[in-house]
Amino acid sequence: MSPLQSQRVLSGMRPTGQLHLGHYHGVLKNWAQLQHEYQCFFFVADWHALTTEYENPQGIVASVWDMVIDWLSVGVNPSIATLFIQSKIPEHAELHLLLSMLTPLSWLERVPTYKDQQEKLKEKDLATYGFLGYPLLQSADILIYKAAGVPVGEDQVPHVEITREVARRFNHLYGYETDYQALVEAAIKKMGKKNARVYLDLRRCFQEQGDTESIKKGHSFLDSQENLTLGDRERLFSYLEGVGKVILPEPQALLTSAARMPGLDGQKMSKSYGNTIALRESPEQVEHKIRTMPTDPARVRRSDPGDPDKCPVWQFHLIYSDNEIKQWVQEGCRGAGIGCLDCKRPIIDRVQAELKIIRERAQAYIEDPNLVQQIINEGNEAARKVARKTLEEVREVMGLSYG
Ligand code: TRP
Ligand code: SF4
Repeated sequence: MSPLQSQRVLSGMRPTGQLHLGHYHGVLKNWAQLQHEYQCFFFVADWHALTTEYENPQGIVASVWDMVIDWLSVGVNPSIATLFIQSKIPEHAELHLLLSMLTPLSWLERVPTYKDQQEKLKEKDLATYGFLGYPLLQSADILIYKAAGVPVGEDQVPHVEITREVARRFNHLYGYETDYQALVEAAIKKMGKKNARVYLDLRRCFQEQGDTESIKKGHSFLDSQENLTLGDRERLFSYLEGVGKVILPEPQALLTSAARMPGLDGQKMSKSYGNTIALRESPEQVEHKIRTMPTDPARVRRSDPGDPDKCPVWQFHLIYSDNEIKQWVQEGCRGAGIGCLDCKRPIIDRVQAELKIIRERAQAYIEDPNLVQQIINEGNEAARKVARKTLEEVREVMGLSYG
């Protein structure tokens, strides 16, 4: 994808409580960067949260506002990005319904997260219609904004993939006018026998041998044909490549290169592992949590040498420390020259400094809930305008326009 400001980038996050350093380093820093390069839409995926939390929806509501405040506090900027709440844009639901008509069950059943999550969340009954449809709802989220790029983690790539397949199927089914074939034939006839042969040869070259040069040649050839109408020419362009009109463009996954933030115990930082540092954690808690982090178990006494590769604290240094400190850790740990608390000090300082700014920014929003509400209201409105327009096109090509 070329970095054009006009390209739309969209991503959503399920509201699952206060965000932590894992969200910050893994996702949000990236969002804050992307908002300067693309037209960004970021939304709270509250319907997606309901697919697993339907027994206890009250928890979602509080999380929604906490999450929006966290986004704003890390620098996601509502004056350049559009922030909104999924369930306030009912168009997502209508598109989801329409797409469900043409989506084979088997596509949904074979998405890896479907079985994985059911296994992982055994205590919940996820044998529901909504949960099976989770990736398709995500497709609707993406396609309704015609997003070119979708920043996601690796686990979400299959969802972008299925979105591409659904879009392709949709375009194939509805991207052709009902009398497309007849109109194409008539347009070819208008060119005269000789020119028609040139055109059809170029088409064969592309469709049978994948020769992309012939598309270019075909385009300039059609441009030189004077007795074609604009509509004819458009149809012959699409017929050349064997594609109809693209109504729902296929998105690309934008994989984040961001460092994977480890948790306090060295596993991935995640609320379900209880190994997080929340963005709005108090300084005392931050200090305590890092001081009590496990270290290389071989370092029982201060005089025992250690191995940073076996220590979660080292993972934190990789994110927070410059080369000089990293070298100090390597030597001090392996040679038992420093204690583990010494080693943790620079990390505690960095994390405290990082969170201080975030906490202060959050405070301003916590004290002014109306401001947050207003930001979301404006985002909802802007998003809805785009969603409505796409849905009109979708209804029209599906024949659902009753005046
Ligand atoms: N499924 C995503 C996740 O769990 C959240 C999500 C919902 C999303 N809709 C989306 C992400 C659309 C990107 C685009 O992280
Ligand atoms: Fe871990 Fe640092 Fe202790 Fe080595 S010195 S075991 S890297 S905390």
